[in-house]
Amino acid sequence: MDALEALHNRTSFPKLTDPEPDEECLRNIYKAAFRAADHGVLRPWRFLLIKGESRHKLGELFVKATLAENPDTEPAALNRIRQKPMRAPLIIITISCIKEHPKVPEIEQDLSAAAATQNMLLAAFAQDIGAFWRTGSMAYSPVVAEGLALKDNEKIISFLYLGQVSGATKNLSDPSVEDYFKQW
Ligand SMILES: Cc1cc2nc3c(=O)[nH]c(=O)nc-3n(C[C@H](O)[C@H](O)[C@H](O)COP(=O)(O)O)c2cc1C
Repeated sequence: MDALEALHNRTSFPKLTDPEPDEECLRNIYKAAFRAADHGVLRPWRFLLIKGESRHKLGELFVKATLAENPDTEPAALNRIRQKPMRAPLIIITISCIKEHPKVPEIEQDLSAAAATQNMLLAAFAQDIGAFWRTGSMAYSPVVAEGLALKDNEKIISFLYLGQVSGATKNLSDPSVEDYFKQW
């Protein structure tokens, strides 16, 4: 698939199944992250790969974080939360790592980590791999941050779920260019 085809047609896939993408596909995805726009070439990011048994550990961490926020959460809700990391064979967690810089504020470094995530979405789509960018309250939980050993200057930008596409593909409905691009 060429670049414009991927850019014009990328879509997210919520239903993702085994097996995880092969090593060559994954390396293509990782390398795409490095081509994100990056003010000052700070590379203000790192990535955690969660697969196999680690997904269960992440599920338990989500439960702990939920109980810290709301100790009265019902067991059925906790079970759903525990299963969330099982929605795909692989999760890449994008973490922004903010560096002190006189010209590059924190927001630009977070945006760069977000751009790296978008590049990975596109690289996945271009290789017929399904992907879905998720955050939710777990991305902002101090308990999750501690469990994943994030440092004070780090934050979660994305849980990027990856796997084989399953289920129907969405019909794209693109807005009209003229509605969003106007001459000033
Ligand atoms: C920063 C960010 C966080 C997101 N978090 C979630 C999420 O937690 N749950 C969810 O259903 N969609 C989330 N989304 C949206 C989906 O990833 C997806 O983009 C959306 O469903 C639109 O589908 P499309 O990418 O196929 O256009 C998030 C998107 C972004 C950019």
